Parts: sequence; structure tokens; C-alpha cells
Amino acid sequence: MKILFFTGKGGVGKSTMAAAAAWQLSRKSRVLIVSLDPAHNLGDIFGVDLKDNKSQYTSTLFLKEIDLQKLSREYLQREINVLSGTYKYLQTLNLDNYFSVLRYSPGIEEYALLTSIEKTIKNETDFDYIIFDTPPTGLTLRFLALPKVTITWIDRLIQIRQKILEKRYTIHRIRGPLSNEETVLNYKEADDDILKRLWKLNSNYQALNKILQGENCSVILVFNPDVLSLKESERLIEGLNDLNLPLRLLINNKVTEDNKEMADHVEGNMRKKAKDVPIDRVFLSKALLDGKDGKLYDIQEDITSKLL
Ligand SMILES: Nc1ncnc2c1ncn2[C@@H]1O[C@H](COP(=O)(O)OP(=O)(O)O)[C@@H](O)[C@H]1O
Ligand SMILES: [Mg+2]
Repeated sequence: MKILFFTGKGGVGKSTMAAAAAWQLSRKSRVLIVSLDPAHNLGDIFGVDLKDNKSQYTSTLFLKEIDLQKLSREYLQREINVLSGTYKYLQTLNLDNYFSVLRYSPGIEEYALLTSIEKTIKNETDFDYIIFDTPPTGLTLRFLALPKVTITWIDRLIQIRQKILEKRYTIHRIRGPLSNEETVLNYKEADDDILKRLWKLNSNYQALNKILQGENCSVILVFNPDVLSLKESERLIEGLNDLNLPLRLLINNKVTEDNKEMADHVEGNMRKKAKDVPIDRVFLSKALLDGKDGKLYDIQEDITSKLL
């Protein structure tokens, strides 16, 4: 299975190019396209009403729009359940107080998105391609960075937890036998639920990171022949490099006879930033602008041949 992420600044044509790629690939393969952008327009592009459920468009093409708010709520509830289960022995801490502010904590949306991507990759194994249409650059880079950031944190937390268990063991040894009313707190690593959960999280994120950095994952960057789009794309390329994520195709979208010079200039700069990455050009299409035949995903140019 191959995984494609379409990224870029808002309005450059990410959703349109993701939809076009999905349409083109679905001629020979089974394709699922998932919109992660809270400002969805995948349904509009295909002329159907999508509601958080996978919907079949043709025999080989399926569409889905993620409801980010619902996803964040569910993510938070799952975390609260796990936390209250794990820390039920800590009656003295007022956990409810903590939970009530947790929903305002930064990062919830990013984790919810990442969890949804992880689930989709795990569950939708009968597709040849899963295409993700991503939110604008900032949020995308943040959720793509999460596995790496999280692994760093979890490693540290594992060390801290191991120290706590060591201390518990020392106390246990010094104190000797307990009276009947007292309970023994775990000091063995293999019995400790918190450590087990940290190890599990660690291996999940390692696995996800491997998939995202792997051969079967491709990040496609869409841009336009203009300076703002160039600047943001340059930042995105740097971000992807920092995260070791595989940028495989650049799409210069909305090129016209009038902006060809600018198109060359922007491509020249992109080439310096991403040396071996191929560039496709897509021309501004009047049919697409007018939306006359309703197929807002059907572009002239073949943008998938470099991705096969
Ligand atoms: N090659 C193109 N020719 C004409 N219009 C285009 C082209 N690519 C995108 N558009 C139009 O530009 C607008 C923004 O495209 P969209 O795919 O929604 O961008 P994004 O997902 O990056 O925000 C839409 O109205 C879309 O129809
Ligand atoms: Mg979009």
C-alpha cells in the first residue's frame, strides 16, 4: 500500500490535485482519499455530500472527510478513560479538575489527526493507495512532527518511571513486611501499568514513524507561481527535511501564459531547496474555474506517473 500526503499553502490547489491524483490512480488501482482539512471541500470537488463516513464514488474510488472536532472529542475521552483507569490509586489528586482543562491543551487536534491517520493506515489495508489531503502548512507540519517529538518525550518518561520503581523497591526493602491494611505499590517493571503503556506508546509511534519515513510514503508539495507560495513552500521543505519525511513530487499549479516567467523563477528556487525532486506543471484550467462539467477533479495533466 502506498500513502500520499498532499501538502502546501491554503488555496494553492492541494485538494484539487489530491482529488485529481485519486481519480487518475483509480483507473488501475483501489484508492481511498481522505480529507484532513477542517475546511473540507472534497465533497464539493466530487459533487457529493460526505459525512465522516467512507463513501464509494466508483468501484475503485472511495472518499472520506474527517470530522476533526468529533475526532478531538473522542481522542480526549479515550485519554481521560485511560488516565482515570491508570491513576485510580491516586485518590488524593483531583483528576477531574485536570480533565476539565485538558480539552484546552495545545496539541489535542494534532494528536487526534495523527491517531486517525494511524488508524486509517492500519485498517484500510485493501486499498492500493491512501491519499491524505492535509490542512494548511502549520498544522500539517505539527502533526507530522508528532511521532518524532513524542518518541523523545516517551523515552524520557520511561526513564523517570523506572527511577520511581527503583525508589519504591528501595522503600519496600527497608520497610520490611507490611500490616494487613497497607497495600504494596508495584515495584517490578513487568507489573507496572504505566510503564507498560509507555512501552506500548513508544512502539506504536516508532512503527508509525517508520511508515511515514518509509519507501511507501510520499509527500507531495503543491505550490503556485507566486512569491508567497514560494516562501511558504521553502519553509515546508525545510520542515520535511528536519523530520526526514520523503518529499517525492513538487506540483507547480495554476501556471498560465502570463505567469510563465514567475513559474520558472519559483521552480528554479524550489529546485535549489529540493534537488532531486521532480516537478510537474499544471496549467490554470478554465473548465475547472467554470466548473461546467462538474468534474472538478479531472485535469488534463498526468500528475501520477512520477508517483507509481
Ligand atoms: N489548475 C487549476 N485550474 C483552475 N483552478 C484551479 C486549479 N487548481 C485549483 N483550482 C481552484 O483553486 C481553488 C483552490 O483550490 P483547492 O484545491 O481547494 O486548494 P487548497 O486545497 O490548497 O486550499 C479552487 O477553486 C479550485 O477549483
Ligand atoms: Mg483543501
